[in-house]
Amino acid sequence: MDHFQLRDGVLHAEDIPLTRIAEEVGTPVYVYSRATLVRHARVFREALSSVKNPHIAFAVKANPNLAVLKVLSREGYGADVVSGGELVRALEADMAPKDIVFSGVGKTDAELLQGLEADIGQFNIESQEEGRELAAIAAAHGKIARCALRVNPDVDARTHEKISTGKAENKFGVPIHRAVEIYSTLAALPGLDMRGIAVHIGSQLSTLEPLETAFGKVGELIAELRAQGQTVTHADLGGGLGVPYKAGEVLPSPAEYGAMVAKVTKHWDVALSFEPGRVIAGNAGILLARVIRVKRSSNTSPFVVVDAAMNDLARPAMYGAWHDIEAVEPSGAKSISHIVGPICETGDTFAMNREMDTLESGDLAVFRTAGAYGATMASSYNSRGFVAEVLVDGDKYAVVADRLAAAAIMDAERVPDWL
Ligand code: LLP
Repeated sequence: MDHFQLRDGVLHAEDIPLTRIAEEVGTPVYVYSRATLVRHARVFREALSSVKNPHIAFAVKANPNLAVLKVLSREGYGADVVSGGELVRALEADMAPKDIVFSGVGKTDAELLQGLEADIGQFNIESQEEGRELAAIAAAHGKIARCALRVNPDVDARTHEKISTGKAENKFGVPIHRAVEIYSTLAALPGLDMRGIAVHIGSQLSTLEPLETAFGKVGELIAELRAQGQTVTHADLGGGLGVPYKAGEVLPSPAEYGAMVAKVTKHWDVALSFEPGRVIAGNAGILLARVIRVKRSSNTSPFVVVDAAMNDLARPAMYGAWHDIEAVEPSGAKSISHIVGPICETGDTFAMNREMDTLESGDLAVFRTAGAYGATMASSYNSRGFVAEVLVDGDKYAVVADRLAAAAIMDAERVPDWL
């Protein structure tokens, strides 16, 4: 459930009409609902109530806005970060260092040191090479890095190929059949406290079976490691739970996910952690845009040209992803349209032949389920600026990221004096 609902014919974010935000902040603009973020954070935690002391680290990549992170840190969430930049954000949002997990296949030496100096809770090591480098850096600085080894279980997550991470051919983790050997090698190095296993097989999973299969393999691995005399006290089960992008679509619920986790991990005797991203933030945000004009000149359906584009919301262009699109003040009329942005690429298309609310020039529209992997994936392509972001809380709202004008981006550029 989210808090973007029609009231008196106008779509609201909690108690604020989106027409007001459009007028006062301009469009395009991302709008997040605090109540929805909080609700999702609590529903996910509640779903894990049969797991002892679950550690939940929000995947910052899904929505790194500081205000969003602050809402989640106040809910007791930690952070899963994948870069030095995300680490700085998590700390800035008051996430406790011990609640921060550092994932990612290409952490640089500087980022490893940054994590050590912040004394973060855990590094998820993606390769033997990375483990050795971290050990050397930790030892040189008199630190101990708490680590989990990320394994690649070779399980097909049955999601979009670009967001599938657990197949043998994907770049993530170490092959699970080599995990005992690599774990043992790394555990013997000074500077590392090898304490667990991490797994994450992909995002937007629409069925629980691949997760259950992957977790089952992790359970076997933990038993094998212990049989070899290794210590395993932690397991990080990653993120991946999908969310409905189409009204009426049904996906496994957090409760079903939690029940599956409780069943599979029953005898593991480890502290479990989780890295949800989309399931927390996805439906807590929308992208609000205005129709620039409607092109009716061709003999196909009309092209509704909105002021948001693929640089603001990349998912449709990148993954062919569906986002529900609705009028902010629906007249009740429906028609078949193409919804496109102004960018000079055919890929800048949000929907083709979509039966939806009829939109006319000047109308406001929302792209739903844009709270995760929305603003964070924006670029300034076509010298468009970065969209503003707004957080709504009941009857108040705040701009939580200023619109960054194209000119401000240009300010960082220099023309050398020899030109
Ligand atoms: N943990 C790790 C190690 C990850 O790589 C990810 C996402 C997550 C957790 C969070 O996964 P979630 O719970 O959000 O599914 N840009 C794509 C999604 C990329 C996901 C990358 N990794 C999209 O727009 O669909």
